[in-house]
Amino acid sequence: MTRKIRIIGVGLGAPRHVTGEAVEAMNEVDVFLVPDKGERKSELLDLRRALCAELIENDRWQLRTIADPERGPDSERDARQYREGVAAWHAARVSAYVDVIKALPPGATVGFLVWGDPAFYDSTIRMVDRIAERIDVEMRVIAGISAIQVLAAEHRIPLNAIGGPVHITTGRALIEQWRRDLGTVVVMLDGHLRCRELVAEHPDLQIYWGACVGMPQQALVAGRLGDVIDEITRVRRRVRDDLGWVMDVYALVPPE
Ligand SMILES: C[S@@+](CC[C@H](N)C(=O)[O-])C[C@H]1O[C@@H](n2cnc3c(N)ncnc32)[C@H](O)[C@@H]1O
Repeated sequence: MTRKIRIIGVGLGAPRHVTGEAVEAMNEVDVFLVPDKGERKSELLDLRRALCAELIENDRWQLRTIADPERGPDSERDARQYREGVAAWHAARVSAYVDVIKALPPGATVGFLVWGDPAFYDSTIRMVDRIAERIDVEMRVIAGISAIQVLAAEHRIPLNAIGGPVHITTGRALIEQWRRDLGTVVVMLDGHLRCRELVAEHPDLQIYWGACVGMPQQALVAGRLGDVIDEITRVRRRVRDDLGWVMDVYALVPPE
């Protein structure tokens, strides 16, 4: 029997970020599968549970955690080892999910609640594609509000210059990739504020930075990179000290 899977972008933790379409899809789901990453990520688990409790109108939904396979020390790996490490981790995850889905009643609809939008630095769609190679699946993806959009909205900026490009990348790849003709460069997954390495040569870049955007703990800093990088470092550290973790995203905009 075909299993229905819904991959639902839920924005950044607040019920008001969840679109009407996402709420409809959440109400179709019988079992939400959530990777259990332990430690601080249990806060994210609690957030998902709270969203379901607030937005789902039936009482049949369940949230089931699936132990996340061990993932190696990414920071010690080169690019090839990193890709191989991620591939092995995805394969282990896929097997765990296939086992759980096969054990569900045949008509059950399975849901994945994805932070932000499933299209940005999230492996759920790829993982469900792999699940679909092993069992018969009908998959839908529901867009969510991404940290990228909330960053731009909170700073009240368009991301692109008129007719210009927007490049989205990770902290890991920023220095290797950055070129002025990329236009605005949006950086996610940067635990080390790699943009500091651009200060010496490109201090005039404009940076729009945000931690915990769209959340009660939101912190924003904007300005000339050379002028505000130390302030961003301080604010980032303060947020991390307060919460025990920090998620941040930034846009680097070349001067006109
Ligand atoms: C695994 S990616 C997931 C992105 C997510 N799918 C999205 O659309 O926002 C995690 C990265 O997204 C960014 N991020 C997610 N939530 C954020 C938030 N509330 N504030 C700032 N950055 C956030 C950070 O760069 C973080 O390292």
